[in-house]
Amino acid sequence: MPVNLSAAKDATTIHADGGVPYYVPMGGECALFERAYKHRLPLLLKGPTGCGKTRFVAHMAARMGRPLYTVSCHDDLTAADLTGRYLLKGGDTVWADGPLTRAVRSGGICYLDEVVEARKDVTVVLHPLTDDRRLLPLERTGELIEAPPEFMLVVSYNPGYQNILKSLKPSTRQRFLAIEFGFPPEAAEIAIVAKESGLAEERCEPLVRLARRLRDLKGQDLEEGVSTRLLVYCATLIQSGMKPADAILSAMIEPLTDEPDIKAALLEVVAVTLG
Ligand SMILES: Nc1ncnc2c1ncn2[C@@H]1O[C@H](COP(=O)(O)OP(=O)(O)O)[C@@H](O)[C@H]1O
Ligand SMILES: [Mg+2]
Repeated sequence: MPVNLSAAKDATTIHADGGVPYYVPMGGECALFERAYKHRLPLLLKGPTGCGKTRFVAHMAARMGRPLYTVSCHDDLTAADLTGRYLLKGGDTVWADGPLTRAVRSGGICYLDEVVEARKDVTVVLHPLTDDRRLLPLERTGELIEAPPEFMLVVSYNPGYQNILKSLKPSTRQRFLAIEFGFPPEAAEIAIVAKESGLAEERCEPLVRLARRLRDLKGQDLEEGVSTRLLVYCATLIQSGMKPADAILSAMIEPLTDEPDIKAALLEVVAVTLG
């Protein structure tokens, strides 16, 4: 039997024994996820950073009652980081499953965040898992694991950072159902920021309005707009007693740019919006 040493440092396992993580749906994404799960189809979430993709997956995994294995992909991540490797332990060589293998064996949900960041060899592992074979070949051990019906693969990527090298190959992306995520509509975002930070809704409302104005500058001067995550940070600082102007500076302006000109333009928007 393989020995599971939980070797992958970047994997977190959230068991659905607590509550269901708070998530405000934007449209039909929960129903689509349920359908994909039922029909054993893999799912791709597209959208900017900090708009709720990870929270959505945590919420749905809990709703489905499945363990979740989340891997944040980075440019050094190899197929072996996902599938597993032999490790030396007390003079013995033991096989340690990676997070993808653990998800397949346990019928869990594997979420590969920012999958385009990973090395090319990762796609070789994903392809047989994402068609109707649903197989995970472990080259090193010679094992061929058939995914149980409960296993589901979810990946995310941020088309905003897209460039020639860092976009999904058609042969990979055409294996997934896909949903586009955006920032929540105003009323929903106010409710989310209030709930997550504990700050009263009427105090979150101007922050959300400001974020939406700042997002309008995206493209011209900014690569990415203020995320819902940053809004939550900002409201959390204010709720803890920080002056709103200081909280806005450190949560909604400084994280966006290093350019003095752009920073000045953003602060101008703050002044105009909040008066
Ligand atoms: N629809 C939503 N419901 C509840 N919280 C949300 C929602 N969208 C965003 N958030 C909040 O924004 C934060 C960032 O979302 P996250 O899922 O980590 O973004 P992403 O994975 O898209 O980068 C979450 O921790 C949560 O506080
Ligand atoms: Mg995420």
